[in-house]
Amino acid sequence: MNPPLPANTTERISPATAGRVGRRDFLGTLGLGSLGAAWAGSALWSGRGADLREQARPWEPVSDRKVRVGIVGYGVCRFGADFGFQDHPNVEIVAVSDLFPDRRAGLMKACRCDRSYESLELLVKDPKIEAVFVATDAPSHARHCIEVLKHGKHVMCAVPATWGSIEEGEELLATVRATGLKYMMAETSCYHASCHAMRTIYRAGGFGKLVYSEGEYYHYTTEPIASYRNWRVGGPPLWYPTHSTAFYVGVTGQRFTSVSCLGFRGTRPQHQPGGNAYGNPFADEIALFETTEGGVSRMLMSGSVARHVEETGRVFGERGRMAGMQYWGEMEEQLPDISRPPLPPGVPAGGHGGSHGPLMNEFITAILQDRSPLVDIYESLAMTIPGIVAHTSALKAGERLKIPQYDRTANASK
Ligand SMILES: NC(=O)c1ccc[n+]([C@@H]2O[C@H](COP(=O)([O-])OP(=O)(O)OC[C@H]3O[C@@H](n4cnc5c(N)ncnc54)[C@H](O)[C@@H]3O)[C@@H](O)[C@H]2O)c1
Repeated sequence: MNPPLPANTTERISPATAGRVGRRDFLGTLGLGSLGAAWAGSALWSGRGADLREQARPWEPVSDRKVRVGIVGYGVCRFGADFGFQDHPNVEIVAVSDLFPDRRAGLMKACRCDRSYESLELLVKDPKIEAVFVATDAPSHARHCIEVLKHGKHVMCAVPATWGSIEEGEELLATVRATGLKYMMAETSCYHASCHAMRTIYRAGGFGKLVYSEGEYYHYTTEPIASYRNWRVGGPPLWYPTHSTAFYVGVTGQRFTSVSCLGFRGTRPQHQPGGNAYGNPFADEIALFETTEGGVSRMLMSGSVARHVEETGRVFGERGRMAGMQYWGEMEEQLPDISRPPLPPGVPAGGHGGSHGPLMNEFITAILQDRSPLVDIYESLAMTIPGIVAHTSALKAGERLKIPQYDRTANASK
C-alpha cells in the first residue's frame, strides 16, 4: 500500500506513467523508496487545488449623483464607446470627440449623445464636463491626459500610460500630484477574473510573498493593425507591457526594480532596418524582472507566435500558487470571495474578459466616493515604465537595467 498522502493532494506522476507503473514500484525502480516516503510530506504536495467561481451579487449605488463625462477617441478599436459609460446610471455623457467627422458621428450615436467637439483640446474647455475618458492613440495618452487634468477634470485613459517616454510619464505624475485629480489607467488585465481573484487572494495572504510570476500578452496579426498615424507599425513590444505586468503589479501592488530583456527579431518588413519609426527590430520581447519582494517575474509581449492571441498570467508564492481560476496552496479551505464587483443593471461587463464594465465602474465609483481608483497613477506607471526600460535592455542585448521608482509619499526618485 502507498503511504498516505495529505488531504487534497495527488501523486505527482503523470497519468500516462501512473497507468503503467504504481508509485511505490516507480520509486522502487529508481531505488528511491525511502526518499519517496519523505517526499510524501514535502515535494509531493501537488494538490488538486480549488476551482474558483464568481458569485452574482446585487449592485448597490453609492450615490444618486451623475458624473458629467466627456469621451474622446473612436479609432479602430472603437474604444470610446466600449466601456459602457453611456449605460451607467451615475453618468451623463456631456460630449464626445474624435478628429475624424465620421468617427465623431459614430461615437455620438454609440453614446446616445448630441454634442461633440472637433478635438480633445476643444472638449476639455467645456466647463460642464468633470471627467474625461481618453481612448486616443497611445503616443498621445500622456499629453492628452495632462491637457485634461490641467483643465480641472478627472481622467481615465486607455493603456499604456505613456508610450516609450519616461519623461512624459513623470510629467503626467507631476500633473496628477499638482492637481489632486483622479487619474486611472484602464488596464483590462486588472479586471480579468483570474487577475482579480489573484489580487484578492494575495491580499488575504493566500500566496505569501510571490517567488515568481508570469504575465503574457500574445497578439499575432498577419498585417500591422491600422491605427492613427500608424503608431502600432513596428512598435517596440514592451512599450505595450501592461496586459502582462498587471499579473504582478496589479496582483501585489509591489514593484519591479531591475530588468534584463531579450527580443525575437521580427521577420516581417516592419521589423527590418528602416521599416518602422522606432528603429525597433523586435516583434517579441521577453523580460525578466527583479521584484521588491525579492522574487522574479517573467513578462512578455509577443506578436510572432502563429495565430495566438491571449492575455494571461500565473503566480507562484510561498503559501500558494494560481493559474487561470485554479488555486493550489495552504488556503484552499478558506479562500475569500473572489467575485469582481457587481455592475449596475444594464451595464455590460464588456470585452477583454469582461473587464471593460468593471474598469469604468471603478473610475466612476472612485470619483463618487472621492478615493483613489484601483489603477491610479502610481500603479499605472509601475505597470508601464518597466516595459520601456525592458525595451532599452533588449536593445543592449539584455543588459540588466534599474527601473525608476515613484513613491506615493515622496517626490519622484530614481
Ligand atoms: N485591452 C486593451 O486595454 C486595449 C485594446 C485595444 C486598444 N487599446 C488602447 O485603446 C486606444 C485606442 O485604440 P485604437 O486602436 O482605437 O486607436 P487608433 O489609433 O485607431 O485611434 C485613435 C483615435 O484617437 C483620435 N484622436 C487622436 N487625437 C485626438 C484629438 N486630439 N482629439 C480627438 N480625437 C483624437 C483619432 O482621430 C483616432 O480616431 C489605444 O491607446 C490602445 O492602446 C487598449
